[in-house]
Amino acid sequence: MAPFDDDNDLQDGQFYDPDAEYEPDPEYAATLAPDAARQRRERVGPTGRPLPYFPIPNPLTDHGPAKIVAMCNQKGGVGKTTSTINLGAALAEYGRRVLLVDFDPQGALSVGLGVNPMELDITVYNLLMERGLAADEVLLKTAVPGMDLLPSNIDLSAAEVQLVSEVARESALQRALKPLMSDYDYIVIDCQPSLGLLTVNALTAAHSVIVPLECEFFALRGVALLTETIEKVRERLNPELELDGILATMYDSRTVHSREVLARVVEAFDDHVFHTVIGRTVRFPETTVAGEPITTYASNSVGAAAYRQLAREVLARCHAE
Ligand SMILES: Nc1ncnc2c1ncn2[C@@H]1O[C@H](COP(=O)(O)OP(=O)(O)OP(=O)(O)O)[C@@H](O)[C@H]1O
Ligand SMILES: [Mg+2]
Repeated sequence: MAPFDDDNDLQDGQFYDPDAEYEPDPEYAATLAPDAARQRRERVGPTGRPLPYFPIPNPLTDHGPAKIVAMCNQKGGVGKTTSTINLGAALAEYGRRVLLVDFDPQGALSVGLGVNPMELDITVYNLLMERGLAADEVLLKTAVPGMDLLPSNIDLSAAEVQLVSEVARESALQRALKPLMSDYDYIVIDCQPSLGLLTVNALTAAHSVIVPLECEFFALRGVALLTETIEKVRERLNPELELDGILATMYDSRTVHSREVLARVVEAFDDHVFHTVIGRTVRFPETTVAGEPITTYASNSVGAAAYRQLAREVLARCHAE
């Protein structure tokens, strides 16, 4: 039985379980895997704008220098870690060399890639604080070919305090990543849900920011503060920093609510909103338990297709610059 009527309003006796797995709306699923013929007909994507065709990227023969992307939103639970893992894995599938940086003392990115942060003696914390420590000593290979991880654990929370008294405290991560730039095509930093010194370090190291935004009430709350912070970092610390895009996550095409939130986000941020939208599916929480990206855990799922499309969109934007 379909849980919704056409207006997606709940009827008496029905309840909405946001975590229930459902067959994706075929129309929506199609927007996640566009083909050229459809594109020519100028189809409208989930953001209400014509959906461009994002080509399959050409393989690379040389790697680096890396483009550094900070995955950032001070609101918790919006899909930063999920997007870091799966965008990274999708870029790696397209032959890009990818480094993921766990920059949250919770270590969720490390856990999501099957690493137990509590067992680590050396993490990104050591790389930040100890001069002379080589990045290779901290780097871990992941199960995804071409994708490496700089893991973190609770030790990183001390860095926030210890860095305060350092010279150039905002650029500690930038310094730590410098020797790795030539080995990778993309470095994606998973930020913690705060706008503290660690996040400022990520923004100082980055070329661009991706802001995941949950398609929920109050999604836009706090985004002004985030864009102000990005602006300040650009003025004072990192003139190269750009807002790459707003990524709508946990979108449910079958609820009026999700569609309204997305429409407001597009109204507010216009071309900064990625055409690719990540649907809500219980497959994502499952991948965390499995400790692997959705692109390998459920390779044919809509969620995997969405992050592959995001990877193509990110690469297309990069080449268009
Ligand atoms: N598209 C999605 N559909 C359903 N669940 C999702 C989706 N994306 C993420 N989730 C789930 O929502 C929860 C929060 O996601 P995630 O950890 O990626 O957010 P976060 O922004 O990194 O959180 P934090 O601010 O705590 O670091 C996780 O349980 C994750 O599995
Ligand atoms: Mg997280």
